[in-house]
Amino acid sequence: MHMLNVLSFLLITLCLCDGRRAKGNRADNEFGLKIKKPYEPKAVFKMFTHGKNLKDACNVELFQANTLQACSFNSSHPLVIIIHGWSMDGIMESWVPRLATALKSTQIDINILVTDWLALAQQHYPIAVQNTRAVGQEIARLLIWLEDFTKFPVSKAHLIGYSLGAHIAGFAGRNLATSGRILGRITDDAGFVDAIHTFTMQHLGLSVGIQQPVGHYDFYPNGGSFQPGCHLHINNLYAHLSQYGLMGFEQTMKCAHERAVHLFIDSLLNRDKQIVAYKCRDNAAFNKGVCLDCRKNRCNTLGYDIKKVHTSTSKKLYFKTRSLMPYKIYHYQFRIQLFTQFKMIAPSFAIKLSGTLKESETLPINLVKEVSGNKTYSFLMTTDTDVGDLLRMHVTWDAEPLWTNMWSKVKTIFPWGSNDDGPQLIIGGIQVKAGETQQRTTFCAQTEDWVLIRPSEERMFVRCDKRQEKQKRVNSSG
Ligand SMILES: *[C@@H]1O[C@H](CO)[C@@H](O)[C@H](O)[C@H]1NC(C)=O
Ligand SMILES: *[C@@H]1O[C@H](CO)[C@@H](O)[C@H](O)[C@H]1NC(C)=O
Repeated sequence: MHMLNVLSFLLITLCLCDGRRAKGNRADNEFGLKIKKPYEPKAVFKMFTHGKNLKDACNVELFQANTLQACSFNSSHPLVIIIHGWSMDGIMESWVPRLATALKSTQIDINILVTDWLALAQQHYPIAVQNTRAVGQEIARLLIWLEDFTKFPVSKAHLIGYSLGAHIAGFAGRNLATSGRILGRITDDAGFVDAIHTFTMQHLGLSVGIQQPVGHYDFYPNGGSFQPGCHLHINNLYAHLSQYGLMGFEQTMKCAHERAVHLFIDSLLNRDKQIVAYKCRDNAAFNKGVCLDCRKNRCNTLGYDIKKVHTSTSKKLYFKTRSLMPYKIYHYQFRIQLFTQFKMIAPSFAIKLSGTLKESETLPINLVKEVSGNKTYSFLMTTDTDVGDLLRMHVTWDAEPLWTNMWSKVKTIFPWGSNDDGPQLIIGGIQVKAGETQQRTTFCAQTEDWVLIRPSEERMFVRCDKRQEKQKRVNSSG
C-alpha cells in the first residue's frame, strides 16, 4: 500500500484558448536552442481516427512535417491532446479511446492526438513522476512546432490529462508560458484550466488525491472523495480491505478516481443531461443545500461545455451524482419550519416530489440530529428524476419502532396531560429552491398555514400561490 502515498488522481483540462501573447523575442527561448540538440522522443503522438484501433493509429512525429499530412492533421480544426497517467501494465487504459470517441462524436472536425508515454509511465511510480516533466516539455515542443510550421495557433489546443497526465498538462502549460507563447502561470491567465477531483480522501492518512484547487474551476463530485457505485465507505475501509484484499481495494480506488474521466465523457455523450456544479466553501455547507446559487458565475457546467469565465480566484464547485452514467441528478435546497414541544432525536422523514413532468421516487431525508422548539431546517435533497417544475409534495414521517417504544416508556413515567397522544410535529412553510432551474417555490399545507403530523402519517403540500388561487375561486363562487 506504500505506493498510495504519492498517487494523485484528478482530471485536468487545460484549454490554451484566450492565452495572451508575449511581445518578447521568441528566438531566445530554450525551445529554440533545444531543437539543435540531438532529438530523442519522449512520447508518441497518435492521431485518433474514429473506428480505428489506437494500436494502428498514425503517428505524428515531431519535426517531421510529412507525418502531419500522412495522419490527416488539419490545422484549421481545433486540437485535443489526451494524456494518460501512470501505468502498471504498460497497456493503454480503456478510457483513452472512450474519451477520444466521445470527443469525435461531439465534434467531427477535430484533431485528436493521444500522447502515448507508456514507456516512461510504466516505471516505479516516483520515476514515472520524474518523467512527467520531460513529457510535458515534449507536448509544449509539439505545439510550438505546429504553430511555427503549420500556423496552427496554440490557442486552439486543449489538453486533457488524467492522474499523472494532469501533471504533464501542467508542465506543458508552464513550458508554453516560459517560451512566451502564453503569458503567466497556468492557473493564472494562461488560457483556462478546469479540474475534476475524485478520490481525495485525506482521512485515510494517505494523500491519494489533490484536494487543493488547481484550476480556474475545481469540481468536487460528491465531495471529491468516494464515489457512489464504488462500494467503499470510510467507515468500513478496513472491513473492505479484509474482505476484498488489496486487489479489491485497488479496483475500488480505480473506480473512484477514474470517475473523473467518466464524468467528462458523460458531458460529451449526454448533451441533454449536462451537470451543473455550485460554488461552495466546503462539502458540509453544500450538504445543507445553501450553495445552490448561480448568480455571478457561482455555478458552472461540468466538462466539455464549461463556461470559460475567467475569475480572479479559483472556484471550488460541488455537486452530487448518480452511481452510473448519465451521472446527472437534480439538486434542491429545502427549508422546512418545524415546531415541537419536545426534543426529538433524528426523526426520519421521506418526501415525494410531483412536478409538471413526473413524480419522484420517495426520498428519505435525514433532517438533523435533533429537532426542538420552533426552527427552520435547511438541507440538500437530490433526485435523479427530472420532475419538471414543482407542483406538490408529500411528506411522510417514518415511524421507527425504536422511537415508538421509547416514547411509550417515557409516557408512563411522565404524565403529559390529557390532550397528549404521542409524538407530534407541526410543519410550517416549506421553501424549495431548485439548483438546476434556480426556481424558488413556497409550499403550504392544503388548507391551513401549518399542519400537524404524527409518526406513520403523510401530509400533502401544495404551492402556496396555487392554494391562494383556489381559495379565491372557492370564496368567489361561494
Ligand atoms: C481542413 O478543414 C477545412 C475546414 O473543415 C477544409 O475546408 C479543408 O479542405 C481541410 N483540409 C484538408 C487538407 O483536408
Ligand atoms: C414559529 O415561529 C414563527 C416566527 O418565527 C411564528 O410565526 C410561528 O407562529 C411559530 N409557530 C408556533 C407553532 O409557535
